[in-house]
Amino acid sequence: MNIKRILSICWFVHVPIVTLIAVILLPLFNTGAVVAADIPKTDHGAATMEYQERELDRLLPTVDVSKVPPGFDEVVWEAFIPEDNAMTPERVALGRKLYFDKRLSADGTVSCATCHDVTRGFTDQLAVSEGIKDQFGRRNAPTTLNVALLQIVFLDGRSPTLEHQAKLPIINPIEMGMADGQAAVNAIKGDGEYKAAFQKAYGRAVNYDDIGRAIAAFERTLVFADSPFRRFLNGDEDAISAEAKHGWELYNEKGRCVTCHPINPSNPLGTDNRFHNVGVSARHQDFEGLAKQALKAMEEDPSEEKLDELALSTDMSELGRFMVTKNRSDIGTFRTPLLLNIGITPPYMHDGTVETLWDVMDHYNKGGEANLFLDGGMEPLALTEEEINSIVALMFSFTDVRFAEENQRQFERQKAQAAKKRPLRDDDMAFRLKLAFEK
Ligand code: HEC
Ligand code: HEC
Repeated sequence: MNIKRILSICWFVHVPIVTLIAVILLPLFNTGAVVAADIPKTDHGAATMEYQERELDRLLPTVDVSKVPPGFDEVVWEAFIPEDNAMTPERVALGRKLYFDKRLSADGTVSCATCHDVTRGFTDQLAVSEGIKDQFGRRNAPTTLNVALLQIVFLDGRSPTLEHQAKLPIINPIEMGMADGQAAVNAIKGDGEYKAAFQKAYGRAVNYDDIGRAIAAFERTLVFADSPFRRFLNGDEDAISAEAKHGWELYNEKGRCVTCHPINPSNPLGTDNRFHNVGVSARHQDFEGLAKQALKAMEEDPSEEKLDELALSTDMSELGRFMVTKNRSDIGTFRTPLLLNIGITPPYMHDGTVETLWDVMDHYNKGGEANLFLDGGMEPLALTEEEINSIVALMFSFTDVRFAEENQRQFERQKAQAAKKRPLRDDDMAFRLKLAFEK
């Protein structure tokens, strides 16, 4: 038998055997979380509630409500918790059940976790959110991660606390669509488990205010701030790449990001909790006309439910903070969003129009979209491609290590997406040619 023949027999016999062994063994080695495509889905593209709950158990195997989250100052942490809603295991457990319960929506297809999905960075990774009856709103869903530390809630700050906020989506017509708080109570009060849980948590029967309180208590357990970048700030030089370190310099200097997105050991969120017009909505809006329309609508119905509706489902959404304060200087301003975990919460900006972190950088590099109300802190930056890559690398280091896998997946996906537009064409570069020192 010549060598060729031996090889061909080996080929015929061994390849199928090796393949078979590989097929049997591979799943055993694949211990990490499943890739996004394998996640079982339910209504509106969210992962099934059962799957999300299991994922949450993996991310947060234990919750000790008597402990301040690691790395946080006790006094600061306590200040965020209202007196009438001290953290207890019963409240957190009740809030968790409510967070995943689709019965709180009019057609039984939407829970908080539909739009703040555990498997998608606690957001929906959609440009704008989809609520009951497949209705889309005007705003991009921010993450519910780390909202415990927000000083003011919603992108226009129309809610003061998590307790107050949690009650609004349930009765918003395009989100969960319940007629009123009582309808939400009615939907669950017959459930013996809930009856007992409300008694144990608050010593009362099922009621709407306690629904808000319990959900808020649960949200306060979603503190995910252990990022490579935070470890770097705490002295671990090797926690982030050299590219990200260069990005950190640019973030503080040439890029001026730090002026609105301060980030340091005592404030890991990356927001100044203030409102700015960075020229996102300016692209397509007649601000003056909209402002007049808004003042009229709010005079006719000054309720907070109406405000919530106008903000989420009309063109007036673009007015941002103005809808709350009615100050002209607030036209088109939005609260600086958190940059913690930013890599896993695309797309970006209040209207979700910016697809990747590279696109975010292009927006800032040209100084935002010019408009009468543009923040004074916005100016063309003249960052090079290499500098943009560095700031993007920095931002991907803001993700909690427990989401490392999704972060890497997003990095690759966004990079490939952004590369389609790169290198930037001459007309995209036009803004750079306008810079004073380049003329
Ligand atoms: C249909 C999708 C949808 C549902 C359902 C939904 N949300 Fe949201 N959520 C959003 C959108 C969109 C925003 C941004 C709205 C804004 O800021 O004006 C938001 C904002 C928030 C914020 C504010 C975050 C920040 O950075 O200020 C919190 C907290 C929150 N939602 C929690 C919840 C809770 C709790 C529930 C369930 C009771 C819920 N959401 C249900 C889409 C949704
Ligand atoms: C003048 C204040 C200001 C400056 C300077 C600024 N930002 Fe922002 N940033 C904001 C505000 C306000 C928003 C929300 C805008 C909106 O949604 O319309 C935002 C949005 C973002 C978002 C999207 C967040 C999300 O969840 O959608 C990212 C990412 C971001 N900024 C990064 C940066 C980086 C990087 C720099 C520096 C190159 C920078 N910002 C400079 C105020 C600022």
